[in-house]
Amino acid sequence: MRGNVRVSGAKNAVLPMLAAALLAEGDTVLHGVPALDDVFTMGEVLTGLGASVDFPGGGRAVVRAADLGWEADPRLVRRMRASFLVAGPILARTGRMRISMPGGCAIGSRPIDLHLKGLRSLGARVEQDRGCIELSLPGRSLTGALVYLDYPSVGATENLMAAACLARGETIIDNAASEPEVVDLAGFLTAMGGQIAGAGSKVIRIRGQAHLRGAQHTVIPDRIEAATFMAAAAATGGHLRLENVEMEHLQAVTAKLREAGVTVEPGSGGYAEVWAAGRLRAADIKTMPHPGFPTDMQPQLLAAMTVAQGTSVISETVFDNRFHHVDELRRMGACITVEGRCAVVRGVPQLSGAAVRATDLRAAAGLVLAGLAAAGETRVMDAHHLDRGYEDLVGKLRSVGADVTR
Ligand code: UD1
Repeated sequence: MRGNVRVSGAKNAVLPMLAAALLAEGDTVLHGVPALDDVFTMGEVLTGLGASVDFPGGGRAVVRAADLGWEADPRLVRRMRASFLVAGPILARTGRMRISMPGGCAIGSRPIDLHLKGLRSLGARVEQDRGCIELSLPGRSLTGALVYLDYPSVGATENLMAAACLARGETIIDNAASEPEVVDLAGFLTAMGGQIAGAGSKVIRIRGQAHLRGAQHTVIPDRIEAATFMAAAAATGGHLRLENVEMEHLQAVTAKLREAGVTVEPGSGGYAEVWAAGRLRAADIKTMPHPGFPTDMQPQLLAAMTVAQGTSVISETVFDNRFHHVDELRRMGACITVEGRCAVVRGVPQLSGAAVRATDLRAAAGLVLAGLAAAGETRVMDAHHLDRGYEDLVGKLRSVGADVTR
C-alpha cells in the first residue's frame, strides 16, 4: 500500500457533540463530521427528541434544539450505546428524561452506573422500571456538586460535563477521563458559552450557566482511523502519508509501532508518514485509559502482531471481553491463545486468506488488516460493522493500492 490517505473527523468526538448540541437554544454547526452509521443514528436519536438535524453535505451537521421532548426511542438506544449521551443534556434542558438501558438487559446496569451516580450527585432522581431509566429533577434544576468517578469513563465524563454546564453552581468531576475527545467536547461547550477548566486532566471544573448558545466547531481528526491506517501500513510493509492527523493524540500507538520496527515521521501541518520495511517485531500491548494505549486499537494491532517476529502479550484492561476477533484470526492461521484478559500472539511468517466474521467495529477493522497481510483472499462477513465508524474505508484502502471490494 502506497499513497495518501485523508483522515476523517473523529466519530467519538462528534457523537457527544451532537448530544451536547441539545443544550443550546440556537443553531449549532459542526464541521468535519464523518458520514458514518453511528453519526446518523445519533441524528435520529436527536430528531426523535424533537430537535431538527440536518447533514447538508461538506462534512457539516446543523442542529436546532428548540422544542425538546424527553423520551428517547428505545430501538435507537439499544442499537448504539453512545445514545445514552443525550441523557445529561435532555435532563438539564427539560428536567426529565426517559431512556432505556443501552445494549439491552444482557449487559445489566453496570455499564451506565457511573453516568447515573454522577447525575444523582447533581440532584437527579433516578428510577428504573422494566429496562427503562426515568430521570427527574425534584429540585427543578441540576445543582453543581463534586462527582468522583470510580473509573475514568469517557461517556460518563462527557455526559456529566455537558449536563453540568446548565447546573446551578460549580461541578467538579474527579478522576475524569482525559481522552482527546473529552477535550474537544469541552472546546465545543466553551464555544457554546460553557465555563470549563481542566479538561484533559484528572479534574474538570464546570461553572454552570443559565443558558448556552448555538456555536460552530470543527471536530478533531479521528485518531483511531489514523492509527488503523498506520497499522495497515505496518502489517503489509506499506508506505502511507496520512493527512489531517494530530500526532499528540497518537503517542501511545506511535510508540508501540516504533517498538515493532515501524517508522513514523510526523510532518508539519497535520501530516505524518508511516512505513515498514521487513517483518515487524513483536511488542507487548496493554490497553488503558488515555494516555495509555487505546482499547479501540487493540484488535488492529493484535492483527498486525500475528505476522510479527516473536511473541506478543496483549492485555485488555478496559473491556472484559474484547477478543472476539481472535477465533477468526486463528482461521487465517494466526497462533493465539487467550487467558482471561490476555492474548498471547506467536507471530507466524504469513496468514492465509479465509472466510471470517466481524463481531464489532474494531474487530472488523482488525480482520480487514489481517486480510490485507494474508496470502490469498479473505472474506469478512458482517462487514456492515465498519460503516459504524470508518468513513469509506474500502475506498480509502483501494486508493492506496489495496485489493478490497465490498
Ligand atoms: C468510549 C468510546 C469507545 C471506547 C471507550 C473506551 C465513544 C462513543 N465510545 O466508550 O469507542 O472503546 O470509550 O476508550 O466515545 N463502565 C462502567 N460503568 C459506567 C461506564 C463505563 O463500568 O457507567 C466501564 C465499561 O463497562 C468499560 C469501561 O468502563 O469497561 C470503559 O468504558 P467508557 O470509558 O465509559 O467507554 P464508553 O464511553 O462507553
